[in-house]
Amino acid sequence: MKNTYSIGLIPGDGTGPEVTREAVKVMDAAAQKFGFKLNYTPYDFGAERYLKTGETLPDSALDEFRKHTALYLGAIGHPDVKPGILEVGILLKTRFALDQYINLRPVKLYRTEDCPLKGKEPKDVDFVVVRENSGGIYTGIGGVSQKGTGLEVATQVMTYSRPVVDRCIRYAYEYARRRNRKKLLTLVHKCNVLTHCGDLWVRAHKEIGDREFPDIKQDYNHVDAATMWFVKQPEWYDVVVTENLFGDIITDLAAIIQGGLGVSAGGNINPEGVSMFECMGGSAPKYTGQNVINPIAAIAAGGMLLDTIGETAAAEAVDKAIFAALNSGKIKLLAAGQMGLGTTQVGDLIASLI
Ligand code: IPM
Ligand code: MN
Repeated sequence: MKNTYSIGLIPGDGTGPEVTREAVKVMDAAAQKFGFKLNYTPYDFGAERYLKTGETLPDSALDEFRKHTALYLGAIGHPDVKPGILEVGILLKTRFALDQYINLRPVKLYRTEDCPLKGKEPKDVDFVVVRENSGGIYTGIGGVSQKGTGLEVATQVMTYSRPVVDRCIRYAYEYARRRNRKKLLTLVHKCNVLTHCGDLWVRAHKEIGDREFPDIKQDYNHVDAATMWFVKQPEWYDVVVTENLFGDIITDLAAIIQGGLGVSAGGNINPEGVSMFECMGGSAPKYTGQNVINPIAAIAAGGMLLDTIGETAAAEAVDKAIFAALNSGKIKLLAAGQMGLGTTQVGDLIASLI
């Protein structure tokens, strides 16, 4: 019997459905080649449903999500919806409820010409950021008082417990071991100012590394310096681990050195549960329905999904097909509208290369 996996599909807003279609096309091509089956259950969560019904993501949906092997998210965000509503109501709600405590973001340059850095080639830009995805400022702990008066006070607190830090650090060490390249885990934080939270991360990184991962080298960067070194010496990095908000910020920088949001994918991972994959870019509403958005990030996210459910050969084939498509001479630039091919043609090309 063929292995069958149940995938919850949330195409979302703007260009989300267009890129999701291409990701499904390529995942299915890989499934066919490697002899397994993906059964998709679509969900219509996103701006349209919210604007019609006022509902973002009901709790009953989370119960359904828990039954799938994995989830795939296109993109959410709409110009008519105030910032924060869909992000918190759908994306963060799912991350927290399913305890997707790792946000895994590979940073991989496929072609020299897509890199904005002078003199850097694919061999120089190839690392992975492990962003903590369940704690920190994102938990929203804090409050506001005297709102609207001249004396308004607002707090939003960076919270981290030792177990939440430990499980992230441990995942990152294990990832560095499995990746088997430089065997280097760089912690990025700001321990010179965040003397409580930063110190917690620094001790966890050292203690777990010394005790359980003597084969992995340890390094540390302050987050401000890391933004500089990502640009100047990306080749220094192998696996980077960091807390939630710093990880959010540095992975946008990392995305541009690998060619931009058109190719940068990520996974919200619960290593013991249900994970959700998405491209790093947003819903890009102005390109909706024009067949011009780059689907490669979404396709790469599909590849990460396959890797996480255990179909590693299929995942590798997706990555190789992306590489081959990008180096076929058929895709000009990575930006929306500048590919020289349409969204569906890029998907067809990659699917044909599986
Ligand atoms: C990301 C996004 C989200 C985040 C937003 C949309 C809530 O920027 O996945 O990087 O901040 O995590
Ligand atoms: Mn972000």
